[in-house]
Amino acid sequence: MLETVTSVRDLRAAQFAWRETGDTVALVPTMGALHKGHLALVAAARKAAKRVLVSIFVNPLQFGPGEDLAKYPRPLLEDQKLLEESGCDLLYAPAANEIYPEGFVTKIDPGSLASMLEGAFRPGHFQGVATVVAKLLLQAMPDNVFFGEKDYQQLLIVRRTVRDLNIPVQIMAVPTVRDADGLALSSRNAYLAPEQRRQAVALPKILTETVATLIENKTIDKTLKEGRGKLIAAGFKLDYLELRDAGTLAPAHDLTLPARLLAAVRLGPVRLIDNMSVAGV
Ligand code: PAJ
Repeated sequence: MLETVTSVRDLRAAQFAWRETGDTVALVPTMGALHKGHLALVAAARKAAKRVLVSIFVNPLQFGPGEDLAKYPRPLLEDQKLLEESGCDLLYAPAANEIYPEGFVTKIDPGSLASMLEGAFRPGHFQGVATVVAKLLLQAMPDNVFFGEKDYQQLLIVRRTVRDLNIPVQIMAVPTVRDADGLALSSRNAYLAPEQRRQAVALPKILTETVATLIENKTIDKTLKEGRGKLIAAGFKLDYLELRDAGTLAPAHDLTLPARLLAAVRLGPVRLIDNMSVAGV
């Protein structure tokens, strides 16, 4: 059985034992409902450190009022089984009051990076992410922490938080893991009906086409406009399709610097996000 702790106290005791023998520790923060994307992070963590710690915490602070906090999938037993098979050493599954004890008020505000793109559609989301990630890092004190490029804006915000607060950890990014047809894996894909699941593949397909067109003819505004039209024609409700500087997320006006194409669309009950690299030329 996978060793599981639910309190900071027990987490620190396990950490202390590892540190005694000089073992390095990698943390993989998740909200559970684990899939191959999460497991790719665990596999990368396995290579980077002697001990792999995974956290599962469905963080209320990063969900907005109308969002899916209550119905977010929580298959803990299956997650424990997957983690055990993938070589995780310890699961930290804190109770809510271990993260947000009564009277908790201190939140981290990641500034303008948190109010654009995802932040514009999910106000307060990235304050919630930055706060819980900072807390998990300070509770667990790992050497490395792993994040997926699937949530590209989250990755940049965590980098900024860690730098701004001098949290002593190295952040590692793992490329997006996709299903065979190209759809990025996500715990929320489980909400898609079979017909919607078939439709969803248009998102990575249109992003791939848009990246190719951008590299080919470099007309950013026109290509983005076409891409938005294609997404709508494919049956999605479009939140955004944007080309941004890969480091700052400022709008990209040319392709001389590394850029990132980022999209969010809605399909039935699900909001899908995806992003791809557009290498500078
Ligand atoms: P969650 O959505 O469970 O994702 C946990 C980690 O897995 C994140 O770093 C995410 O980018 C990564 N991930 C998800 N799908 C992936 C895929 N298809 N390929 C590669 N990596 C993937 O993101 C969160 O949880 C939360 O915001 C969290 C960071 C845990 C803070 O609450």
